[in-house]
Amino acid sequence: MNTKKILVLTGGGDAPGLNAVIRGICKRARRESITGAKWEVYGSIEAFNGVLNEPQELIKLTSKRVAGIHVKGGTILKTTNKGNPLKFPIQQVDGTFQFKDRTDELVNKLKNLNFEAIINIGGDGSQKISQALFEKGLPLVGVPKTIDNDLSATDLTFGFQTAVQIATDSFDKLVTTAESHHRVMIMEVMGRDAGWIALHTAIAGGAEICLIPEIPYDINKLVKKIDLRYKKGRGFVNIVVAEGAKPKAGNITSSSGEKGSEHVRLGGVAFQLSSQLKKAGCQAEIRETVLGHVQRGGTPTAFDRVLASLFGVKAFELVLEQNFGRMVSFKNNTITSVSLKEAIQDYNYLKPDSYLVQSAKGLGISFGD
Ligand code: F6P
Repeated sequence: MNTKKILVLTGGGDAPGLNAVIRGICKRARRESITGAKWEVYGSIEAFNGVLNEPQELIKLTSKRVAGIHVKGGTILKTTNKGNPLKFPIQQVDGTFQFKDRTDELVNKLKNLNFEAIINIGGDGSQKISQALFEKGLPLVGVPKTIDNDLSATDLTFGFQTAVQIATDSFDKLVTTAESHHRVMIMEVMGRDAGWIALHTAIAGGAEICLIPEIPYDINKLVKKIDLRYKKGRGFVNIVVAEGAKPKAGNITSSSGEKGSEHVRLGGVAFQLSSQLKKAGCQAEIRETVLGHVQRGGTPTAFDRVLASLFGVKAFELVLEQNFGRMVSFKNNTITSVSLKEAIQDYNYLKPDSYLVQSAKGLGISFGD
């Protein structure tokens, strides 16, 4: 009987649940092989670099290789944010980088490898690559991934819940010091241009203030809110700030991207906020914590394992149906799919008039607006 091959890869930042998707695809493919055509699953190391590199780095994902990997963080296929085939970074002799479109080369190489389909697990950047390659004739299926939950075509992405749980556990630990020392504790979380991680953490932890990119803050309003908490003497305040938050008439806090990366690197807003508060007259003692990559690390929560496993199964089923150019999605409590085109159309911002923001206000959380 003819053996059919598919290729799986993970691109962009790692997120807890990637391995559960890979295992889900392999398990579903194996079940299909019992009754139907024989399927083999291969993985490309470091996103599409595994195909572009010479020699190529492709591994066969045997049962043994994927056994038990759903509980592990990271990705067994490795990943990179410096391998976008649409804008591939090429280092020049002077150390600077120029970006080159290598999609035609990639498409040719993939066609020669005779894969029945390619499953690209990644965030918005990766799915833009998926769409471009699909338009060039590749049989492609996307699986959404990101701790930021910033993809609009799916209600949730795996990795997000794990990040929120880690951030909430950390927040709970900081409350101890806030209460004991009567301090203002600022905790900075990830999320890029969306405040999903910040707001969920603020609600779960019981923060007094939550600052998100979608609602620029007024520093004087924050000082007022903090003063109120100290009015009767020993107050304390817990603040969650999203890395992409900014003051009204101000900018995001970023450092230049890493060499060869297309992205600016966010981070450090907790320290900016701290100094802005002091300048605006805040008398309380302030401490800052930047959570960073611990939010992306370790084992996925049970929920993320389930979501990721279901995404893996669905991705393989889209391949079986030859339903290409689509991204798996979780909508209205069911696993479905949307066109890649639709998937990359809009960024998933938190809407200031959403039930989530309004309920947080109902809980007394200030956004500084
Ligand atoms: O998109 C996931 C994310 O963790 C963001 O929240 C964060 O801004 C970024 O990736 C960090 O990227 P890197 O790991 O390249 O520093």
